[in-house]
This record gives sequence, C-alpha cells and structure tokens, in this order.
Amino acid sequence: MRITMIGTGYVGLVTGACLAEFGHQVICMDKDEAKIAALREGGIPIYEPGLDALVAKNVREGRLAFSTEMAEAVGAAQAVFIAVGTPSSRRGDGYADLTYIHAAARELAVHLTGYTVVVDKSTVPVGTARQVARIIREANSAADFDVVSNPEFLREGAAINDFMRPDRVVLGAESERAIAAMKELYDPLYLLSTPFVTTNLETAELIKYAANAFLAVKISFINEMATICEAVGADVKDLAKAVGLDGRIGRKFLHPGPGYGGSCFPKDTLALLRVAQEHGVAARIVEAGVEVNAAQKARMVKKIRDALGGSEAGKTVAALGLTFKPETDDLRDSPALTILPPLFEKGARIQIHDPQAMPQAASMFPHFHYTSSAYEACQGADAVVLLTEWNQYRALDLAKIKAAMKSPLFIDLRNVYEPAKMREAGFTYVCVGRN
Ligand code: UDX
Repeated sequence: MRITMIGTGYVGLVTGACLAEFGHQVICMDKDEAKIAALREGGIPIYEPGLDALVAKNVREGRLAFSTEMAEAVGAAQAVFIAVGTPSSRRGDGYADLTYIHAAARELAVHLTGYTVVVDKSTVPVGTARQVARIIREANSAADFDVVSNPEFLREGAAINDFMRPDRVVLGAESERAIAAMKELYDPLYLLSTPFVTTNLETAELIKYAANAFLAVKISFINEMATICEAVGADVKDLAKAVGLDGRIGRKFLHPGPGYGGSCFPKDTLALLRVAQEHGVAARIVEAGVEVNAAQKARMVKKIRDALGGSEAGKTVAALGLTFKPETDDLRDSPALTILPPLFEKGARIQIHDPQAMPQAASMFPHFHYTSSAYEACQGADAVVLLTEWNQYRALDLAKIKAAMKSPLFIDLRNVYEPAKMREAGFTYVCVGRN
C-alpha cells in the first residue's frame, strides 16, 4: 500500500519505518524542513534503539522517503496517518491542544485523490476523529474518505518491538471499506495472530486513555504502598512480587519509584480528567492517581533532604539519570526535572550524569554541572541519587563510587540495589518502600 505519515515525531517516525518494513511504500512528511533534510541525510532526531538501522534499511530498499510537500505526499496515498503532536494546551488546564491535528486535517483534505483512509494515530480526546472527518468534508466536499482511529501503544525504548509484536491493535472504524484497508495495512500482524479490536471511533479513542490511565494508576498504587511499607516496616519489593503473582493483578507496572513521567502518562491522565469533566462525570480514581504521582515526586525531595540531615544547603548531590526511563533521550515530564531544581534552589550543587539527555538538560538547567561518567558525577558528593535505572547504573563499581564521594550516602529512587549488599559495601542506603 502507499502510505503517508504526517508528522515525523516519535510516533510518526517509528510507525512510518515499521510500516515500510512491512513492505508498504511510505512517505514521512513534516513541515520542519531542517528535520526532513536531516532525515534524508540519515540523521534520526530522537534516540530510540534500532530506529536508525530500520530507517536506513527501508530508505536503501526504496520503501521509505521523506518530504515536506503535502501535495506530493498525500496525493497518491491510500492511507494518510495523522501523527502530529497533541501537547497539553498552554493554558495548563490539561486539555490536549488539537491545533496541529486540525491544521493537518484541513491541509491534507484538498490533496486527497481516490478512496483514502485517514488514520488518527496521535493520542486525542474522544470526539476528535469525528471532528477530523468534518474538517475534511468542509475543506473538500468531493473527497472519498473514511476516518479511522488507530491509537498507538508504543513504549519509548521498546517502540519497534511494540509495533512489530503488539498485544493488540485497536481500530475505530465505521465502514467495511476502511476496515478492509486497515487489515491490508496490518496484514503481517494478522499472520502473527495479533488480536484486533474493531469498534466505533469514540471507543477506540477512549481505549488509549483508559489503558494509559490504568497503568498510571497502577504505578501510583504501588508508590502509595511503598509509602505505607516505609511507615510500617514492610518491604515493597516482596509485597509487589506476592501481589503481582496473582494472575488477576500481574507483576508488570508494580515497580515503585520517583513517580511516572514521560510524554504519555502525565498528559493522557490529565486529558482523560478533562474529557470526564466536560461530560459531567467524575473520574476520581484517575484523579487520585495523578495526585499521588505529584505527591510522590515531592516525597522524593523530602527523602533526599532528610537523608542529608535535614538540609541540602552547601551539599553536593550527584544525580544519575535524568530521563523519565532508560533507553530514551526524552526528558518530557521526567521526575528528575521536578526533584532536582528544589534541591538546587535550596543551595545544593548538582552534579549530573545521563547517557543520553545531557545536551537537552544543559539548556534547561545551565547551573547544574554535567559530567562524563557516574564516577565523575560522584566526585566529592555528599549523596548520590539514582533517578533513572539505565543498565550502566545497575552494576556500578561501588568501591569506586564510595572512594569518589565525600560521604557514602546512596539514595536509590529506582530500587536497583539490595539494601543488605549496599550496607555491606559501606553505604548509608536509602530507597523506596524498603527499610
Ligand atoms: C507509555 C505506555 O506504556 C505506552 O503503551 C503508551 O503508548 C505510551 O506511554 P512510555 O511513556 O514510553 O509508554 O513509558 P513506560 O514504560 O510506560 O513508563 C512510563 C513511566 O512509568 C516511566 O516514568 C517509568 O519509570 C514509570 N514506571 C513504569 C514506574 O514508575 N513503575 C513501573 O512499574 C513502570
């Protein structure tokens, strides 16, 4: 099939490259000329394991191309994906900003030729697919098209595998023609017996929010349990294992930490709250999940402060990891960005190491000190705080860390290390939900 992807951000680029790998003819388009020029030269704007090789292979084999021209990209396409950004609106009220979606719909409309499926891939509030259909119809009353909602469930750092081997594919589609086109598009997944859920547009849009909200609530739940564990002298790791072994609950997403972050959970939970509010219904569980997440980040600041003897003024804090999770360079809503600034503002010197995100962080926090290794970050530190569980921080040379530090205080906000072993290694060890 001939496919056009509008928007070459995280979702658009991964989806475009993977559909090309399925054998389709894909054009990824973006208005950002510098980005398209860089992609044509083989430059990948984000860090996602395996993406550079996948893009290069499909470009080389002639299935993937890049363009800034809407007419060229949309005219020949049988399926046009809208994968532009839906940031939280600047008003700070949690609403998703649909400016880019609406603009893309208006602009693509006039270039449609022949029957085309317009696929909403971006995460959007319920009702957006129908808005997109209306905008296209208004801009081009002769267009022969259907709108399909096909939410993505890609985890950063594992996006290619998530695309190639999804737990399910969700299709919000209301015509047989559209469903047939989407089946052709995802044919390789049918061969793998991937479950497909075909439903109406509203349900497909809500499924995405419901899945992310459930996972976010699950994390907030275990973070709340971690706080209770600390209060009563219980161990959250054993608790999570035992609770998670109940097949009805499951072990995934029961890892306590500094709170969830990233481009999806924080934004999508807020957007879901707004959807509920707009329709006059309560969403108290999601609301509580969001509140617990904010409290968790604040609790981490207090944890660090308490471990430093009640004040961080004049202390040096080594921070390992800035991204919201490993294997990404994404800093969006990363807990580190909420936890470190208050320490700096109260007079701590912050020495940072992160394998991927230091260039972006340096422009956001020019007063932090950026170092070339975990060991350099720990030089002269009063405390080291492990914020992101990058693999390279899982097997640190503890003797070397301890020798570099002024005092051996290890604050492990990802529970990577074992308390007994850390004490044996001579550290004062503080973690989450384990005494
Ligand atoms: C998420 C969803 O998993 C994906 O399906 C969706 O489409 C996009 O949003 P992503 O944001 O890439 O993916 O990251 P994910 O692996 O889900 O982690 C999100 C956050 O939750 C991270 O900050 C992570 O550290 C945190 N987390 C995750 C926990 O604190 N504990 C856990 O047990 C799991």
